[in-house]
Amino acid sequence: MTPPVANSFHEMWEELRPLGRDSSSGGYRRFAWTGADGDCRAWFRAQAEARGLAYELDRNGNQWAWLGATTYRDVAPGEAVVTGSHLDSVPDGGAFDGPLGVVSSFAALDELRRRGAEFGRPLAVVNFGDEEGARFGLACVGSRLAAGALTPEAAHRLRDGDGVTLPQAMERAGYDPEAIGPDPERLAAIGAFVELHVEQGRALDLSGDPVGIASAIWPHGRWRFDFRGEANHAGTTRLEDRRDPMLSYAATVLAAREQARLAGALATFGKISVEPNGVNAIPSLVRGWLDARAAGQDSLDTVITGIEQAAAERAARDGVELSVVRESFTPVVEFQHALRDELGAILGKERERPVPVLGTGAGHDAGILSGTVPTAMLFVRNPTGVSHSPAEAATEDDCVAGVTALADVLEGLACR
Ligand code: GLV
Ligand code: MN
Ligand code: MN
Repeated sequence: MTPPVANSFHEMWEELRPLGRDSSSGGYRRFAWTGADGDCRAWFRAQAEARGLAYELDRNGNQWAWLGATTYRDVAPGEAVVTGSHLDSVPDGGAFDGPLGVVSSFAALDELRRRGAEFGRPLAVVNFGDEEGARFGLACVGSRLAAGALTPEAAHRLRDGDGVTLPQAMERAGYDPEAIGPDPERLAAIGAFVELHVEQGRALDLSGDPVGIASAIWPHGRWRFDFRGEANHAGTTRLEDRRDPMLSYAATVLAAREQARLAGALATFGKISVEPNGVNAIPSLVRGWLDARAAGQDSLDTVITGIEQAAAERAARDGVELSVVRESFTPVVEFQHALRDELGAILGKERERPVPVLGTGAGHDAGILSGTVPTAMLFVRNPTGVSHSPAEAATEDDCVAGVTALADVLEGLACR
């Protein structure tokens, strides 16, 4: 007999928990095409096979587990209902961002079988590769490639911090980098994609709801700021003779905070590289990556322009050269209203009050697919509100509520 939802979730969660976890930080380091990523991929395949689902690896390294079909080629356009998320992580990420969606998808399928559901449409669970972009700097590489939002040529130019290119990394992991590219027929087979995700804020905690539905994703992007100055001796160079890019960078970090505050937006410098990176040397290069997000395109534009201006003014004062490159961008995503309302109606039936609908500043594969596929998201309460950190959390009861909600949704969408 198929185990009850809590057991099925718990067993999978415990199996996945140690993979790619750093014992000193307690965080996850599941970066694309590394050994830890490979372990997670092997776990996904084993889960698919244990359930008698047809396992399929697509041209971009995304993994699929099919029920009622063996590949998208068996599926008429718009017929498939797909659920899933990602298994990779940010540096020292939490356990839930991504994996909660994948584990809940398999557990929801178990729950539907336990209910004796009759599937009227093919159903698939997906694990999208390299969602976080922690290694190569660009988020959602697997779904962007599939949707044609990233060309194979541009993907081939991606490099990690050690200079390893994406094709080299894929090859070392046993995948064919020459195969990558758009997958329009696969996406055309999908009539609905539902991604369950841990909430990355405290809206559900504050409203007292275990589960919510996504309304929209803020426009967001990543910009690289290169400040080039002159390396020199920290102990002998007079202050007035220095061309110190660290000063320009520091002023830019403060300007980013101020611009974001004024616009009600978010701006973060969370990654930096310094050359030559010596304690007793003035840097020759400070490279900082800005992540910026806002509820609307206009405020995001205002924030970016303001930060660039502040950086340029300060760099000129410091005798430092500045260049700014936009490395990635995702426009605002408004999830399809019809599907979102359908989810609300399905979930509203069994629950005492309507399921809350909330926006998010976090990026997701669902956002990338939403241009081509009817897409929706479910959020599960996170009592800490913290994400991209080991402090990310969800109680087991809420995880089970999430699985049950996902099972209800899939039943409503895919079952007779
Ligand atoms: C992904 O989690 C992102 O929002 O950057
Ligand atoms: Mn994330
Ligand atoms: Mn995620």
